[in-house]
Amino acid sequence: MPTLTIMPSGKTIQAEPGSRLLDAIIAAGEKIVSKCGGEAQCGGCHLFVQQGRKSLSKMQRAENDKLDTIVGVGSKSRLACQALFGADDVTVELLGFDSGF
Ligand code: FES
Repeated sequence: MPTLTIMPSGKTIQAEPGSRLLDAIIAAGEKIVSKCGGEAQCGGCHLFVQQGRKSLSKMQRAENDKLDTIVGVGSKSRLACQALFGADDVTVELLGFDSGF
């Protein structure tokens, strides 16, 4: 079972392979913006994946298209509502602001 580490707080939580990054972050008690219900529409769940990027599900078109509209996107960017856990541990960095707006 992969362990998710959430920065900058350093909180960790166990995640089920195939579950959403967004759900694990919420389950860990961290704040993350999710205004579209996880439909890759609001961009509020944008974060950086610092470790374990290859373990996450591949980016699909809706996520890619939304990320294209967000300022500050980099090679580590993912939308937490679209990324699913694989087998390996993942470390993410929450951005602490509504980067999708
Ligand atoms: S929750 Fe809206 S884009 Fe992820």
